[in-house]
Amino acid sequence: MNNITIAIDGFSSTGKSTVAKQLAKHLGYIYVDSGAMYRAVTLFAMQHNFIDAKHFDRETLVAKLAEVTISFTFNPELGFAEVYLNGVNVEKQIRTLEVSSFVSQIATIPEVRSQLVKQQQQMGKDKGVVMDGRDIGTVVFPNAELKIFMTASAETRAQRRFDELVNRGDEVLYKDVLHNVQERDYIDSNRKDSPLVKAEDAIEIDNSNLSLEEQFQKVLALVTNTLQAN
Ligand code: DC
Repeated sequence: MNNITIAIDGFSSTGKSTVAKQLAKHLGYIYVDSGAMYRAVTLFAMQHNFIDAKHFDRETLVAKLAEVTISFTFNPELGFAEVYLNGVNVEKQIRTLEVSSFVSQIATIPEVRSQLVKQQQQMGKDKGVVMDGRDIGTVVFPNAELKIFMTASAETRAQRRFDELVNRGDEVLYKDVLHNVQERDYIDSNRKDSPLVKAEDAIEIDNSNLSLEEQFQKVLALVTNTLQAN
């Protein structure tokens, strides 16, 4: 059976990565979390004081992009690849609400996007990849054999992200998480370069009322059909 490329796009906290990881494991495919790459660049910008609540030095960040190396290393204990920034495992650090609050701004920068998109295309060049993000089916792999667009209400998504953050011990307020989700929806959908849009040939799944198992079975059925057609 031929390997295929599976692109999973959608708004933040729609559970894209959960289903993408499940699929990759089931199929023996590589999983790439493209959002983690934008988050790692954001962490780099924060570490070098190019961005904080009061200022954003976009030009210097762009000038220093050559110094940013992002890689993934599979962690067998977790069952997925963790992200490294210049050789340092930053998987935990990139998931904070602070990184989430700046990442959409960083993701508007065309130079950041083109550098990351090239790397993503390289990682998926042999197919057998499940990649999730915002522009995977539209820009990174416009020829992907299967494109899925995940949606859920902002409140459902904020509750999921809030539970995740609280579970890992972060002190956050639900209203701040909801605000962050809504703000990112707006910036991600309205930026000039590669805005979040559903690819014409993507299949939309609203998972507001689906259990993880129901969602997985639904996606798996689509994958099975696609594999048979290829
Ligand atoms: O999937 P995530 O929430 O970890 O993504 C973080 C941010 O990165 C998101 O707000 C938008 C941006 N992003 C993007 O612009 N393009 C992608 N392919 C993936 C993420």
